[in-house]
Amino acid sequence: MGKYIINGGRKLSGSIKLESAKNAVLPMLAASILTDEEVVIKNCPKIKDVYAMINILSSIGVTCKFENQNLIVDASGINSYAINQDLAGELRSSIFMLGALLSRFKRARMFSPGGCNIGLRPIDIHISALERLGTIIHEISGEIICSAKSICGKEIYLDFPSVGATENIMLASVFAKGKTQIFNAAKEPEIVDLMNFLNSMGARIYGAGTSTILIEGVKKLHGTEYQPITDRIEAGTYLIAAAISGGEIELTNCNSKNISFLIHKLCDNACKITINNDIIYLNYKGGRKGFSLSTGPYPFFPTDLQAQTMSLLSVSDGVSLVTENVFEMRFRHVPELVKMGANICVKGQNAIITGVERLNGACVTAMDLRGGAALVLAGVNAEGQTVVNDVHHIERGYSSMDIKLRQLGADIIKEN
Ligand code: EPZ
Repeated sequence: MGKYIINGGRKLSGSIKLESAKNAVLPMLAASILTDEEVVIKNCPKIKDVYAMINILSSIGVTCKFENQNLIVDASGINSYAINQDLAGELRSSIFMLGALLSRFKRARMFSPGGCNIGLRPIDIHISALERLGTIIHEISGEIICSAKSICGKEIYLDFPSVGATENIMLASVFAKGKTQIFNAAKEPEIVDLMNFLNSMGARIYGAGTSTILIEGVKKLHGTEYQPITDRIEAGTYLIAAAISGGEIELTNCNSKNISFLIHKLCDNACKITINNDIIYLNYKGGRKGFSLSTGPYPFFPTDLQAQTMSLLSVSDGVSLVTENVFEMRFRHVPELVKMGANICVKGQNAIITGVERLNGACVTAMDLRGGAALVLAGVNAEGQTVVNDVHHIERGYSSMDIKLRQLGADIIKEN
């Protein structure tokens, strides 16, 4: 499973070049089966979730190969619309294959998706939207069996601005007869990026980034060579790493607008942040002050940065309140932080953090992707040695986190 061994107390300093965003690339990989022409996804991160999607695509005859940092996908040899249970269960993003396969074949067979254990993560919003578009869906001993005589554009109202459901509807309606409108759509930057990616293939999608998205069905899509947006969650994670270490960092090719809420909070905490086009520079000024945050759908504070921020608040003066409004089980890093001396009390969806001077090294375990990253950041701050076990969770979404932190001056090694 692998572990990171960290000797804390080093101030980080240096520069990180961000890679393409995991949560932009994963739906794009599903979208790549919507054409028989070559699709190139540039600067694609070599992370476990990308390889899991590549395994799914390869299992149905799609070829994927890395050429340096670019991933080249060729779906001309696609030979099935059925995804097996093990592959589907590897990650949440397998759910995007429903929308993409329905567009390509008007049929799809899948099993429930996997993903971080941060809540029940049902797919009811996905299913009801696909049914609205004309899909007949049965579940037989866990297998989701979909078929559609034709996919007809409709008005779809989402009860919750689900990121995945918004993206799945875009994938399922790109060839639909007529227009599809999504109301109460999610507005994350990765959704805008998926719209731009699909439009670069000849789709006609408008309005992503607002709560109403219009998809005008087209006949076919062509290949593309596309540079996705860089990973705003990776960016936020390394900004917090620099802040919690008392050091500095420069992030290049970063769109600061996509993490403006975190930047605002870090300035309140103890950081001087300067932004020059796509370069963000953070310098810790000293005297971390606690603050409160409440996660929510974009543009609210990102739930994917909640755990990492909680590590910073654990060593910030005063009492801070963190409210997690998106996932019902996203405090699994709290008991592990408490092992390191953090003073955190959880009441339902609220965590009350009373800052301590410094954390202490301990043996802890990653329970999910972002909670695991939070423990690494805590180890960078802690007095003594921290061992973070089960780092495979972290490697789902961060490529070479140990190497990048070592390049910034952290004393961290990986052991298998
Ligand atoms: C995406 O997950 C991201 N994953 C998550 O990032 C991110 O935390 C989440 O959006 C919110 O921003 C990818 O893009 C691959 P949702 P997704 O559908 O699509 C409920 C990470 O760490 N819901 O917006 O699964 C759901 O249970 C990962 O990179 C339903 O009830 O998120 C949750 O409470 C973690 N029914 C809320 O909505 C549904 O059919 C938000 O889920 C779908 C969702």
